[in-house]
Amino acid sequence: MDHDIVATHLTKTYKVREVKKSGGIMQFFQTRYSDHTALSDVSFTVDKGEVMGMVGPNGAGKTTTMKMLSGILYPTSGSIQIRGFVPFEKKHAFLRQISFVMGRKNQLIWDLPAIDTFQLNKEIYELDDLSYKRSLGTLLDFLDAHELIHRPVKTLSLGQRMRLELVAALLHNPSILFLDEPTLGLDIVVHSSIVRFLQEYRQEFHPTILLSSHDMRDVEQLTNRLMLVNKGRVVYQGTLHALVRSYGTHKRIRVVREKSYVLPERLKKLVIIDTFPLLELRIKRSELEDTVSLLLSGGKCTDLTVENEQIEKVIEEVLSINSL
Ligand SMILES: Nc1ncnc2c1ncn2[C@@H]1O[C@H](COP(=O)(O)OP(=O)(O)OP(=O)(O)O)[C@@H](O)[C@H]1O
Ligand SMILES: [Mg+2]
Repeated sequence: MDHDIVATHLTKTYKVREVKKSGGIMQFFQTRYSDHTALSDVSFTVDKGEVMGMVGPNGAGKTTTMKMLSGILYPTSGSIQIRGFVPFEKKHAFLRQISFVMGRKNQLIWDLPAIDTFQLNKEIYELDDLSYKRSLGTLLDFLDAHELIHRPVKTLSLGQRMRLELVAALLHNPSILFLDEPTLGLDIVVHSSIVRFLQEYRQEFHPTILLSSHDMRDVEQLTNRLMLVNKGRVVYQGTLHALVRSYGTHKRIRVVREKSYVLPERLKKLVIIDTFPLLELRIKRSELEDTVSLLLSGGKCTDLTVENEQIEKVIEEVLSINSL
């Protein structure tokens, strides 16, 4: 398999300015610089056409990683190869192949209609009229955004703007995408439409994607593999399935019971939801069989389901193990 992205022993240290007040009546300020390591010895690869998820708490180093991969920041040590390019050299041929979308920042010019940014990007990426029109038409169809492009960006809702941000980012048909929290702050409907769009876009164009998100639906629905980052270190790399298998120590049992049902005493401490007729228990995976038979001995249940622990909980567990 071809690796599109190869990051080896990446470390990034920021210089942080500290201003200290000292002295008595004659106060003065001292400025000192200290090092803050945002990323430490991070290595990973992303294959051609693969979608790699990046998950981790605030400040874990996700944006820093993407900034280095896209050439905005230079790593303090370690190396990055993206299709044979070193990002920080910012070669034209490299920049034409990538795109960086940040859910927290806009690329669209605020006071103007989005079509003006699109035309600017057409010039920057030297797209000919035909490719530009074709690309724009396809993206606007995909995102159902034709009617939005002539309105000043500042008058659009976040969801409308995000759809156009994606158009601006994808106009030049990049084959490597860095998507840093692209669904941040979106309502359920817009969120789903963006996820659906990314799935369709992926099926059609097979880009290589590195995607960060705090929303596990994105990771479940869009990625092949994920990388868990905590305090600047990678604490897990692999599939979501393998993560749940190795770290998902608990399961959830949900039953719908009849009025006459009496919960066996021994199970009471495992209950997490008890709103009649629903009853939910969190149990150790290894105790599944015994618990189910004990549970059913309490009386009549009309439904029983067993599910894996929520992914968020599994991730919390991995992070807590690794922050000791
Ligand atoms: N320009 C900077 N100067 C100094 N420190 C920085 C700078 N940018 C980021 N940091 C620090 O580096 C660490 C990693 O930040 P980063 O933005 O990469 O985290 P993140 O995983 O993207 O977090 P979030 O989920 O909140 O977006 C944090 O401790 C942050 O405070
Ligand atoms: Mg970030």
